Amino acid sequence: RWPEVVQIKEVGPRDGLQNEKNRVSTADKVAWINMLSESGVKEIEFSSFVHPKWVPQLSDAHEVGRRIKRNPKVRYSALVPNRKGLELALGAGIDGASVFMSASETHNLKNINKSIDNTYPVLEEVIGEAKKAGKHVTGYVSTVFDCPYEGKISPEEVIRVCDQLMEFGVDDLSLGDTIGTAVPSQVEALLEAVLRRYPKEKIIMHFHDTRGMAIANILSSMEYGITRFDSSIGGLGGCPYAPGAAGNVATNDILYLLHGMGIETGIDEKKVQEAAFFIQNKLGKSLPSKSLAYAAAQ
Ligand code: HMG
Ligand code: MG
Repeated sequence: RWPEVVQIKEVGPRDGLQNEKNRVSTADKVAWINMLSESGVKEIEFSSFVHPKWVPQLSDAHEVGRRIKRNPKVRYSALVPNRKGLELALGAGIDGASVFMSASETHNLKNINKSIDNTYPVLEEVIGEAKKAGKHVTGYVSTVFDCPYEGKISPEEVIRVCDQLMEFGVDDLSLGDTIGTAVPSQVEALLEAVLRRYPKEKIIMHFHDTRGMAIANILSSMEYGITRFDSSIGGLGGCPYAPGAAGNVATNDILYLLHGMGIETGIDEKKVQEAAFFIQNKLGKSLPSKSLAYAAAQ
């Protein structure tokens, strides 16, 4: 019923920090990512090459990419919105580019300042160029269940965007519950539709934990054979263009779940905990992860 192995992508340095008001210095980001690099995690999304005015917290993406100590076992990826972002990201030595758009027209417009139809040619070019440069490309689709502006999004609307991104050549798709509204029956309905079209190995689930449903949704996804999830240390983060949204499911919590069930991740929980305490101290606030709070109290 359950997979033997699950692959986690750490998105804390990108999805986590992009929505934290308190700035973290470049040196601290580098030290923190270096700690994560030694945790056994196989992919780290280390920053974002979006417009620095839109996400000033990550305006040092280039320097972070250049300064982190590379572990050859880790894929270092970054968010890339357009051609300019890709050029900067390639200059910073990315291994993987994560392109992104929304299944909801309004969220897409607010997040990247373009309609869905006008986003396609931009991403087609970015995906093509990134593949030509030999990079792994992940296509994020946001608001796959609900949009903060439009409400319910149907599996058909999600599939439409997934089809385009796959046609443009992404290696895999990360489906985002951007505002953390989904319950397992919605996950089932979406995965029924998605897995009719794509092999499960190509699908990553990206849950935000706004209402505490992420762990339930992860279990539900695993019942459908999904073995790839994004998570953020301590549950850090949110989305600047999705008001009220909380961070991703906490890496600490998903590891507690998976390891407790005998599912392998190759990640050392203790090292993840140390990295969580480190960033918690730098931000000067407690992170939402329950397993982290429990560990802190010991
Ligand atoms: P725009 O203003 O429409 O861009 O922004 P433009 O192409 O019209 O260019 C305007 C100016 O920006 C130009 O400069 C460009 O060179 C410059 P000028 O000629 O006027 O001096 N520019 C850039 N500069 C640096 N880096 C770049 C870049 N691109 C253009 N990459 C844009 C369009 C996409 C850039 C903007 O809307 C943007 O940066 N949006 C990012 C929003 C964002 O980061 N959102 C959060 C990430 S998505 C997310 O969190 C969801 C996810 O986690 C999954 C989930 O949870 O669902 C992935
Ligand atoms: Mg996200």
